[in-house]
Amino acid sequence: MIDDFRQYLEEAAEKVEMALEKVLKVGDPPVIFEAMRYSTLDGGKRIRAALCFLGAYGSEELALPAACAVEMIHAYSLIHDDLPCMDNDDFRRGKPSCHKAYGEAVALLAGDALIAKAFEVLATQENNALLAVKELAQASGAQGMVGGQVLDLLSENKAIGTDQLKTIHAKKTGALISTSLKLGALAADRKELLPQLTTYGEKIGLLFQITDDILDFEGTKESLGKTPGKDASSGKNTYATLLGLEEAKSLAAKYTSEAKSAAENLPGSGILKDLADFILVRTK
Ligand code: IPE
Ligand code: IPE
Ligand code: MG
Ligand code: MG
Ligand code: MG
Repeated sequence: MIDDFRQYLEEAAEKVEMALEKVLKVGDPPVIFEAMRYSTLDGGKRIRAALCFLGAYGSEELALPAACAVEMIHAYSLIHDDLPCMDNDDFRRGKPSCHKAYGEAVALLAGDALIAKAFEVLATQENNALLAVKELAQASGAQGMVGGQVLDLLSENKAIGTDQLKTIHAKKTGALISTSLKLGALAADRKELLPQLTTYGEKIGLLFQITDDILDFEGTKESLGKTPGKDASSGKNTYATLLGLEEAKSLAAKYTSEAKSAAENLPGSGILKDLADFILVRTK
């Protein structure tokens, strides 16, 4: 039942919010801490935090540093994604983007500081801290998220194929989503789950970006908390533009059922299956 996942997500969001509030206490100079807090606290669905907890299902408390770390890396990626030199978006999580509120220089630096803070916090994890740091560095850097963002920008207003688009999605969004689950498993010292969690995470990652692209077409500013219609106006390649909305939706359904099969026998498999359904039908 999707409601079981909704409940799990609500609890995950509460836990990570309380922890991030402490991690991001205001220091000196206040403006940089305020900008970091502005873009990290009290916003976002906290899907990646929930994925960390699910990777550590049953021992969730061990995954709290990892959940904070992925949400800070994610928040940084959104701050930079919205900058005028990237997607040029003025609205994020229902309020002005970080650079609109604090100016471009502070927004850029808030992103930088969030990366550093994420690794500082992850390094305090009880189990496998070094492996976790390496995992997050690989997933968020040039081989992963940053590389995907570069490919996304380079392919604006260019004709690309669905294979290339899949690579872009897997890197810019899939890498951090998959890694969230893996960080949870490392935190709970369950390395044996890594291969299966990776397979599941890759499906969820692609599903997540396809639904993000569909929502850019069909969603409203109120519900999304960000500006819809941006992909088409910036010449982005998405499944919705490449295949049309109907085919993009069938592909999303296909990844949902593949993710559910991949979740079979994992700890918390019921919730992991519900999560796939939740992402398929999400409206924000
Ligand atoms: C948006 O991610 C950026 C993508 C990778 C598609 P989310 O939809 O998870 O954003 P928040 O955290 O809920 O704001
Ligand atoms: C961004 O994808 C992925 C990131 C790594 C931030 P989008 O550019 O589609 O994300 P939104 O739609 O602005 O949230
Ligand atoms: Mg983008
Ligand atoms: Mg964007
Ligand atoms: Mg988008």
